Amino acid sequence: MRILVLGGSWFLGRAVAQDALERGWEVTVFNRGRSGSAPEGARTVHGDRTVAEDLARLAGEGPWDAVVDTSASEMAPRDVLAGARALESVAGRYVYVSTVNAYRGWPTEPLTEDSEILDGPPNADANYGRLPDDWDGPDWYYGRQKAGAERATTTAFGGDRAVILRPGVILGPGEYVGRLPWWLSRAARGGRMIAPGAPDKFIQPIDVRDVAVFALDQAAADRGGAYNVVAPIGRETMGDFLTACVLATGGDAQLAWAPDKLLLDHGVQQWTELPLWRTHAGVWRIESTRAQAAGLVCRPLSETVQDTWAWLRNGGAPVEHPRWAEHGITPEKEAVILAALGR
Ligand SMILES: NC(=O)c1ccc[n+]([C@@H]2O[C@H](COP(=O)([O-])OP(=O)(O)OC[C@H]3O[C@@H](n4cnc5c(N)ncnc54)[C@H](OP(=O)(O)O)[C@@H]3O)[C@@H](O)[C@H]2O)c1
Repeated sequence: MRILVLGGSWFLGRAVAQDALERGWEVTVFNRGRSGSAPEGARTVHGDRTVAEDLARLAGEGPWDAVVDTSASEMAPRDVLAGARALESVAGRYVYVSTVNAYRGWPTEPLTEDSEILDGPPNADANYGRLPDDWDGPDWYYGRQKAGAERATTTAFGGDRAVILRPGVILGPGEYVGRLPWWLSRAARGGRMIAPGAPDKFIQPIDVRDVAVFALDQAAADRGGAYNVVAPIGRETMGDFLTACVLATGGDAQLAWAPDKLLLDHGVQQWTELPLWRTHAGVWRIESTRAQAAGLVCRPLSETVQDTWAWLRNGGAPVEHPRWAEHGITPEKEAVILAALGR
């Protein structure tokens, strides 16, 4: 197999390129050369996917059996459309990594692949869906952009040759967002630490390496379609996750379970101050049986936790990325909540 990875130097794209090389595939990666580095053995083409000349030069390096597009977290639909059109005649298939944010019902409702996708035309620019500063409704900007990018992919490649992957939260070695790294560093500090919500609350993060395997399996398959790419509902809990963080970091921290209401009363920011904690009913109700039937296998969360801790200890972080700093609660605020919780 000859494969083109858009991205390929960073987190998910790097994991895709690495796995493809381990399969013995011929790998080309395309990025600007600003973030990270491609795995050894991959052929790198530098360029900006928003620049038509760079896309034309990239297309000249083809053909490929498939493209895996991992570099579009902040890419306007029209740029995804231009890129997919530039590659359509030199690539057999296109696997686009979208997100569960593309659903109108996330994070409030249970979801399947048949749930409604947000509006967002395939040729929308980066302003599509922007919200006024005083907007206090749901923040659908990112989801609308990704929904438009999904449509851009199928517009260029057609439904049979386009595969849409919708992961939820991706964790694992190389995570630059700072969610699991923050929990690990907090657990490593030891002492009583807030454990948010309830220990038996199910969660569905997925390991970056498992997303990569599934993306490549779909790149090599012979059908199009959309898949939710998350761990199975009801398999692992917040308690399993935080216990794994404590164990991986030496076992000195003690979990102090703080009910949702107490955290909300103290103004704790969901999703960021205590990463993965969110009270909305649909956050972790994403059905992934279609992907499992197509071969998705999710490793235990404890393995993701241990390997991410090993990566951090080996100098893998902190990564210079603005999102990293968004995560975590201050020790002062945590102490106030722990005091309110009592013993
Ligand atoms: N992280 C999560 O929890 C999560 C959850 C759901 C879905 N996703 C989706 O997963 C995908 C992968 O996310 P990610 O965080 O691994 O990567 P990302 O931040 O979306 O992409 C980074 C990669 O794209 C390259 N890149 C960025 N802009 C470029 C441009 N204009 N031209 C060419 N290359 C460019 C970067 O290299 P250079 O900077 O060197 O160009 C880097 O290799 C995204 O589509 C994201 O929306 C992520």
